[in-house]
Amino acid sequence: MDKIEIKSNEYIFKGTAQVPADKSIAHRALFISSMNKEMTKISNLTNSEDVRTISKDLQSTIKCLSDIGVQFAEVKGVIFVRGRGIREYVQSEGVLNCGNSGTTARLLIGLLSGQSFESKIDGDDSLKMRPMGRVIEPLQEMGGIFDSKDGNLPLTISPSNLKGGNFDLNLGSAQVKSSLIFAALSAEGETKLNETKKSRNHTEIMLGNCTSNLTIKGDEIIIQPDPQIKLESFDIPGDPSAAAFFIVAGLINKNSELKIDNICLNPTRTLFIDILIKMGGNIQVLNKRESGGEQIADLLITSSDLKAIKIQEESIPFVIDEIPILSLACSLAEGTSEIQDAEELRFKESDRIKTTVGELKKLGSDIEETKNGILIKGKDSLKGADCESHNDHRIAMMIAVAATVAEGSTTINSADSVSVSFPGFFDTLNMFRK
Ligand code: S3P
Repeated sequence: MDKIEIKSNEYIFKGTAQVPADKSIAHRALFISSMNKEMTKISNLTNSEDVRTISKDLQSTIKCLSDIGVQFAEVKGVIFVRGRGIREYVQSEGVLNCGNSGTTARLLIGLLSGQSFESKIDGDDSLKMRPMGRVIEPLQEMGGIFDSKDGNLPLTISPSNLKGGNFDLNLGSAQVKSSLIFAALSAEGETKLNETKKSRNHTEIMLGNCTSNLTIKGDEIIIQPDPQIKLESFDIPGDPSAAAFFIVAGLINKNSELKIDNICLNPTRTLFIDILIKMGGNIQVLNKRESGGEQIADLLITSSDLKAIKIQEESIPFVIDEIPILSLACSLAEGTSEIQDAEELRFKESDRIKTTVGELKKLGSDIEETKNGILIKGKDSLKGADCESHNDHRIAMMIAVAATVAEGSTTINSADSVSVSFPGFFDTLNMFRK
């Protein structure tokens, strides 16, 4: 499935959409259970390529962790993990290839920077272009030893003894924060991370629940090394960032009445829902509950007339993965919307300011790139076009949702990139064909 064609007016979003379990939480569940010397049982692990290996060339968190001695078994869809303890990983025989996954690479660099053996980390062409200096530099301050060209992959980590210390987190990146937390677990002495700019907090929630070595005081995350991890089982809730595509599909199509069950509603992930509700979106949050320290609920979405919105700096880390699909919603909203201070989007699987603007423009949106943001004048309709995913899963899914309303036919080149986070995306979409 390289090129896919979607025709408008063929879809009605009535019924229940199944979305994969959360990818961010899956990475954390695998990394943290890799530090547990007892068995951890993980239910509902996503099949996303970033998390599991599906081919020899494409690697992932599970493959990289198994290369450093962590054992995995799958029985009836449940993953059993036998970890090693924070100082007991073993050297990989080969290069650790993180494929397309920035989260795998950055968390792995943190985990391996204080080990007693050398590691080599690499990734695909897209990951090779994404900045690793943001984790390498603070880890060097802790004593980590790295060899890389211009702070990009491939990189080599030499054995070293890390030292704790005080660090400011001013990028608003959960990948950087989690990398430093994992490094601090094998450092000497205490590490204090001052979160001057907040980001998603799944690592702190999960680690805080299974060891007393991580505590939070105000904006400070305090980590003591050598945790004894107690994590028997973990059930991963649905991914809000994957649900976002069907939420917007339900809002912009006519006669929708769409349920999406069991979605993680961690407040560091759900700002896009608040934004869509503020834009006039009919989204009901039902059956709120909690599991593994994370908030969960079911969602009910009905067709809505949307109004423009402004999204600014302090909000960006909390909607970082939803800007492409929010830009589609803004393209069909009444009035002028603006997304500002979103430079971080340039460092994702593609430069998502450029790719979002470029593809939505092809589809007839009145949309412009600004210095580090996007300006969108809402219109009543879009038109079908020949589009390109840029090998970016979230751009492919945004175009597919746009195609359900864009007059005529739309094609998406390299549509199979959806597998990075949502392998069954097109099957799920096809369930809503009239
Ligand atoms: C992620 C954090 C975000 C997000 C990415 C997943 C994570 O990146 O864009 O898809 O799981 O930690 P940054 O925190 O680096 O912005």
